[in-house]
Amino acid sequence: MKTIVIYKSKYGSTKNYAEWIAEALCCVAVEAKNISAGELAEYDNIVYGGGLYGEVINGVHLITKNAQKLAGKKIAVFSTGITPLDCRGYYDDYVIKKNFKNGVPENIKVFNFLGKMKLDELSVVHRTAIKTLKKIMSGKENPSEMEKLLVELCDADGDFSDKNAITDLVNYIKE
Ligand SMILES: Cc1cc2nc3c(=O)[nH]c(=O)nc-3n(C[C@H](O)[C@H](O)[C@H](O)COP(=O)(O)O)c2cc1C
Repeated sequence: MKTIVIYKSKYGSTKNYAEWIAEALCCVAVEAKNISAGELAEYDNIVYGGGLYGEVINGVHLITKNAQKLAGKKIAVFSTGITPLDCRGYYDDYVIKKNFKNGVPENIKVFNFLGKMKLDELSVVHRTAIKTLKKIMSGKENPSEMEKLLVELCDADGDFSDKNAITDLVNYIKE
C-alpha cells in the first residue's frame, strides 16, 4: 500500500502535523505545490492537510476538485485551526459545508486539529483581517453564539498543537 501526506501550511502548524503523521505512517510529507493531481494516481492512501482560513481548508481543492479521480482511494483530510474542538456545531456546519459542497464522499474522512496563531507572526494582511473581523463582530447588537465565538477567536494567541491528536487519523489510514 502506498501512502502520501500532502500539506499546505502558512505558519507551520499544518506542516508539523503533516510531518508527525508521515512519521507515524512511514511515508513522506510533501508540500501541495510540489505534487499534481495526476501524480496522486499512484497512491492508495492519501492524507491532505491545510490550515483553516475563513473556514476554508487551505488548498483542499486538490482533493475536492479531483474527487472522482480519487474515488478508489482511502483519503483523510485534516484541518488545523484555533476553533476549540468542542465547537462541533461550528465545525460541522461551517467547515464541512464550505469545503465539501456536495457532501463528504464515502472514501474521505475529515479530522480537525488545533493549530497555532501567534499574533506577532501574522502577515500584515492577516493581522488586519483579524482586527477587522473582531471590530465588525464586536459591533453586532445581538450577536449569535457563532459571532461571539469569532470575537473570542480573534484574541487567540498561542500554539495549541497536540501531537497525540493524530492517533485516530493514523489508525484510520492503517486499518
Ligand atoms: C486570517 C486568518 C483566518 C483564520 N480563520 C480561521 C478559521 O476560520 N477557523 C479556525 O479555526 N482558525 C482560523 N485561523 C487560524 C489558523 O487556521 C491557524 O492558525 C492554523 O493553525 C494555521 O495553519 P498553518 O500555519 O499551517 O497555515 C485563521 C487565521 C488567520 C490568520
